Amino acid sequence: MSDTPQFSLLSEDGVYARIGEDGFERLVRAFYAQVPGDDILGPMYPAHDMAGAEARLRDFLVGRFGGPPRYMEVRGHPRLRMRHNPNRLDQRARDRWVALMDRALDEAALPGDATALLREFFHGMATFLMNAPG
Ligand code: HEM
Repeated sequence: MSDTPQFSLLSEDGVYARIGEDGFERLVRAFYAQVPGDDILGPMYPAHDMAGAEARLRDFLVGRFGGPPRYMEVRGHPRLRMRHNPNRLDQRARDRWVALMDRALDEAALPGDATALLREFFHGMATFLMNAPG
């Protein structure tokens, strides 16, 4: 027996290589498919530009996890807290966003290590983005 671990930990930058453009596309599509019908999140998103919203989240995630930096090229520095200011992100909104994304992760059925890493990222980032009590 060697002391060398028999597994390798997936790094954040390695997620894109692991799930590819297709993985992010399926994940974000599964998330946005639930948004228009959601009583809390639906009204926050631009009904006339759901395709645009889908592309923004997808491109951000692709760049954040080791893929081409398309989001930064088009939108500049993410500054996500600032960009979420127009919406009231309280505990209830945060929990609903996370619930929809958890379901999207289940549906997309990505490799287990990528799913675990992304789930943890989304939970933490959603908490970080909260901008209202309650
Ligand atoms: C906490 C609950 C959240 C709510 C209620 C929320 C809501 C929204 C809304 C309404 C938009 C505008 C849609 C658009 O036109 O692009 C948006 C944009 C965006 N959100 Fe969230 N969001 C949440 C959490 C997150 C998290 C956890 C991430 C991290 C991946 C994220 C990443 C983004 C990105 C990248 C954009 C596009 C920003 C831009 O370029 O304008 N959001 N979000």
